[in-house]
Amino acid sequence: MSEVAEQAYDIIQARRAGASASVAFVLGSGLGNMAEGVENPLSIPYADLPGFPALTVSGHDGQLTLGQQDGVDVAYMLGRSHYYEHGDPRAMETPLETLALLGVQIVVLTAAAGSVNADIYPGNLVLVTDHINFNGLNPLIGAGGDGGFISLVEAYDPRLQRRFKSATLSSGVNIREGVYMWFSGPSFETPAEIKVAKMLGADVIGMSVVPEVILARRLGLRASAIIVVSNFGAGFMGGNPSHSETRKNAAQGAIMLKRLIRGFLRIKESETQA
Ligand code: HPA
Repeated sequence: MSEVAEQAYDIIQARRAGASASVAFVLGSGLGNMAEGVENPLSIPYADLPGFPALTVSGHDGQLTLGQQDGVDVAYMLGRSHYYEHGDPRAMETPLETLALLGVQIVVLTAAAGSVNADIYPGNLVLVTDHINFNGLNPLIGAGGDGGFISLVEAYDPRLQRRFKSATLSSGVNIREGVYMWFSGPSFETPAEIKVAKMLGADVIGMSVVPEVILARRLGLRASAIIVVSNFGAGFMGGNPSHSETRKNAAQGAIMLKRLIRGFLRIKESETQA
């Protein structure tokens, strides 16, 4: 673990001795209110935690909240750093390392994304089953030695996927499943790029998730990702995305996401088939 993550961990321990978490949620744009309802909350602004991102995009809060929900020690990261903010695919490395130091074993990434699948609509939730990264970027470039050669088979933990699917039954929230393709942003895609994404097998497209999953897997964390579909991809089904549209629709999907997360937390890992 890096020295800077150890420092962030020490600051958290100084605010609450013995603070720990087993499940962490990273909340994307417009999804920040998910942490409401956390019992016994300890919230620390990212600005107080070394190596945590300085957020530059509206809709991202910049705060780590620890506490309990449904008997589970949870951590919520309200807001993330994106590659397009600074050109660094490793920007989420220290926060993820800090979560690992806190005892987190499961990280659930949430994000808004566009749909390139005619059966997946704005407002739908999508459980990510796999990803496509044709950006030529990888957060493990420069990781040194053989440490970067990690497997990404089952990068989106099958057991966590089953747990989310069970949660749909108890929470009454429907989810779709799909492959996420990472685009660097910050401009939205061209209609031609959206056609290519579709041809390659993507269902949803977005500007986050992928580097975080790769970093999480490198740390040995089990990862899952839930997408709130905010729009159709550019030129697809009339899609012409804008930041304000993605924020507005993500906020609506967030209500269902919140219910799904509570359902997920109520299902104990032991109840999910290995
Ligand atoms: N493209 C890329 N990222 C996104 C989109 C999109 O259409 N919508 C929300 N995030």
